[in-house]
Amino acid sequence: MATERIFVIGAGGQIGTELVEKLRQTYGVDTVLASDIKRASQSVKENGLYEDLDVLDGERMLELVKKYNVKQVYLLAALLSATAEQKVKSAWKLNMDGLFNVLDLAKDGLIDKVYWPSSIAVFGPTTPRQNTPQQTVMEPNTVYGISKLAGERWCEYYHQKFGVDVRSIRYPGLIGYKSDPGGGTTDYAVHIFHQAILNGTYESFLAESTYLPMMYMPDAIRATIGIMEAPSDSIKVRSSYNMAGMSFSPKELALEIKKHIPDFTISYKPDSRQAIADSWPASIDDSVAQKDWGWKADYDLSSMVKDMIENIRVGD
Ligand code: SER
Repeated sequence: MATERIFVIGAGGQIGTELVEKLRQTYGVDTVLASDIKRASQSVKENGLYEDLDVLDGERMLELVKKYNVKQVYLLAALLSATAEQKVKSAWKLNMDGLFNVLDLAKDGLIDKVYWPSSIAVFGPTTPRQNTPQQTVMEPNTVYGISKLAGERWCEYYHQKFGVDVRSIRYPGLIGYKSDPGGGTTDYAVHIFHQAILNGTYESFLAESTYLPMMYMPDAIRATIGIMEAPSDSIKVRSSYNMAGMSFSPKELALEIKKHIPDFTISYKPDSRQAIADSWPASIDDSVAQKDWGWKADYDLSSMVKDMIENIRVGD
């Protein structure tokens, strides 16, 4: 029988880079097809199957799905919160039409399972900020948040009406050393490490007391593959699951970094991303994900910071 393949679309991004590596290790190099529109790293392009793909090109997507006998898709191509505010219409188009292209492949029976990431950005200024529950007021006021909330509704719709097996997590800000984030509001929490190690100082684009939910990448990758491996009947929420790791402010993160780099200094110069951060939750209640498919984060602020600094230093 032909190999059934897992297709990662948007494999060059912050999550895709690490997800492809883990999927190749877990299921075998020949089982994973990676794609991106342009910017995948050497490791993603050269260590296994790779094809260029614009997620808006539904015909080519279909061709690749048939050619490689794809049965599962992880759709990671998206414009994040800060970029989407600058490119309103193209962000909406990319984030929505890309999702429809993949959901329709599942509706038409070509693929069996879809993973699509949502975000804490689905919440807005009227949402309770502390320990934000799975079900609550959702009035996002960013382009990215509106597209993610609409995407969640479409995922649930395709599941209910067409039986599509789609699974999703509302990612908090993701922190990792293997790949850079791009265009997000939580990106500071990655940049700060590189600047601390390189220059001993960092200028934060968020104010010192801006608490946001965050997660270390090994937890995020484990959750992503975990929700895809969970039995279908345990996935009761077909919009998207809240998922929590840790919650901290730039000031708290800087203090934790100082434990490893005592001379580190931080200054604050909030820009337009501050308003985005202020509209999002400070912490997340993920008890529904814990109950339904056994999710639990491993890393807290101090274990994440220690691991980040050790690994960035080794890489330098
Ligand atoms: N990390 C994302 C952003 O900042 C949130 O999903 O846009």
